[in-house]
Amino acid sequence: MVALLDGTAHPDARAAFFAAASDDLAATALSAVDMSVRIGSLTLNAPVMPASGCFGPDLGALIPVGELGATVTKTVFGSARGGNPVHRLTEVPAGMVNSVGIPSHGPAGYLATLHPRYAALDAPTIISVGGHRIGEYAPVVAALGEHGAAYELNVSCPNLDRDGTDIGSDPAAIREVVAAVRLVTGKPLIVKLPVLVASIAACALAAEEAGADAVCVANSIPAMPLDAQTRRPILGNVIGGLSGPSIKPIVLRLVWLASRAVQIPVIACGGIETVDDALDYFSVGASAVQVGTASFGRPFAAVEIVRGLRRRSLDAGVGSIRELLDLDAPR
Ligand SMILES: Cc1cc2nc3c(=O)[nH]c(=O)nc-3n(C[C@H](O)[C@H](O)[C@H](O)COP(=O)(O)O)c2cc1C
Repeated sequence: MVALLDGTAHPDARAAFFAAASDDLAATALSAVDMSVRIGSLTLNAPVMPASGCFGPDLGALIPVGELGATVTKTVFGSARGGNPVHRLTEVPAGMVNSVGIPSHGPAGYLATLHPRYAALDAPTIISVGGHRIGEYAPVVAALGEHGAAYELNVSCPNLDRDGTDIGSDPAAIREVVAAVRLVTGKPLIVKLPVLVASIAACALAAEEAGADAVCVANSIPAMPLDAQTRRPILGNVIGGLSGPSIKPIVLRLVWLASRAVQIPVIACGGIETVDDALDYFSVGASAVQVGTASFGRPFAAVEIVRGLRRRSLDAGVGSIRELLDLDAPR
């Protein structure tokens, strides 16, 4: 039995390990390095948060969520829906492919069951919202009302009104979604863009011009893992989303391009496991990062990155990540 952060006992050796790490690094966490970042009217204490779908409120008992900038929920759709057929997740070299399929309780179900548990955590809740038609996003955000500290629009969803390509691969569709959502909320809006786009700059710009406060780059990449023995698809849904370290160089390029195209913050998401991964993204223009796949193996990963950024800044005698990056800059 071990004591967790909230004082409860837990019979899990892994929990003991993470709780011990928490004590070890607590002094660094309290340092005076300013790592705050603004997303519209919302100020995050740290530029690190979980990626959507990779952090459930249960993790609040295991890690000090208050050290993160925010939590991000799994995507909420307009009506209740199930997930994809099993098998839903498989490892591949340097990553994994998931076809969870985003099961959702709809906004009312989310507010009744999951939201109170997110809201009880010590970090702002960014609610991820999805839709399969341009007109589906705004009603969900309206139904969620004031409950989100911010909304992240997951536009990596097939547009069933058109040819089934992702809404987020079409700048005109992004513009329509964001403009409609902007009419129903004054809360900060983040638009989470897909990887497979003709021009990430055009997509990011469309989001900015329609009123988004930030873009998140990017989501997992469509992929199709096969079983080496049978040469049949491993996943019940045949295709899924590739995530983890293998996608980092692809997403680094997209973050670099998006950062040059817009003035609003770019939140990077793709294969971030360590403080150096985060610094790589900051150096190509990201203002904040999200941690997804790494959290499954190491739930403490995002907190370790926050603490690592603070420690590196302290060791270098600088007060911000920007100054830390300037030290690294070629002269
Ligand atoms: C199991 C799993 C579930 C996910 N669910 C969602 C989701 O509900 N909404 C969303 O926008 N992205 C979802 N994602 C994508 C992640 O948020 C993230 O964009 C992607 O995994 C890339 O980051 P990573 O390489 O750090 O994992 C999911 C990813 C995984 C692995």
